[in-house]
Amino acid sequence: PAIATVIPAAGVGKRMQADKPKQYLQLCGLTVLEQTLHRLKQVPALQQFYLALSPDDPYFPALPLANDPKIQRLNGGAERANSVLNALLQIDAQQYPWVLVHDAARPAVRVSDIELLIQSCIQQGQGGILATPVRDTMKRGSDTVQHTVDRAGLWHAYTPQLFPTAQLKDALQQALAQGVAITDEASAMEWAGLPVLLVQGHADNIKITQAEDLALAAFYLEHSV
Ligand code: C5P
Repeated sequence: PAIATVIPAAGVGKRMQADKPKQYLQLCGLTVLEQTLHRLKQVPALQQFYLALSPDDPYFPALPLANDPKIQRLNGGAERANSVLNALLQIDAQQYPWVLVHDAARPAVRVSDIELLIQSCIQQGQGGILATPVRDTMKRGSDTVQHTVDRAGLWHAYTPQLFPTAQLKDALQQALAQGVAITDEASAMEWAGLPVLLVQGHADNIKITQAEDLALAAFYLEHSV
């Protein structure tokens, strides 16, 4: 089945304190966004890309990617979930029954992990996400520890996340309309009572969030495919 790819890249990077949004910072000779697209494009099942950009983004038009016929641009929204929904509203669910959503800010995702996610979800006919089991001891608290959270069954949720297009569109639209807190696509699916497979990926799929993450992402980019 055909898969459309959505890339939310409309963030302004408030936490990064850089001179431009993190998806446009330099990483191994290209921007973070270009590195992310480079990984995604190595997956043959992914042929059409919907890129959510800030309406006044001056950076994307200057990239060679701006002329790529496989990339369709659209305006992002106030929050990541709004950017993803804007993209979903442009996608014909009959033409693309599945949609894969991947953060522009996760350039080091392994091609083999993306393929594992696609294979697992399509085979089982269920949406799913890349994730890894948490490694550290988990605490809840603010100044002092309230208690230790049992780490068995706790996962870090990454992107890509792959779902049936029509289901995700409905779930996201309804969850947003009701003011549900949505930090990833899976949260909307869970809220709607729909299944989400956990597919174990690799922890090098970091999201660039702070300045020091760039050096780590560069290391991972050079040491994995
Ligand atoms: O800020 P955060 O790390 O959660 O952003 C994750 C991804 O979502 C980034 O690629 C960012 O550009 C994107 N985003 C978006 N629209 C927003 C906010 C973030 O597309 N309004």
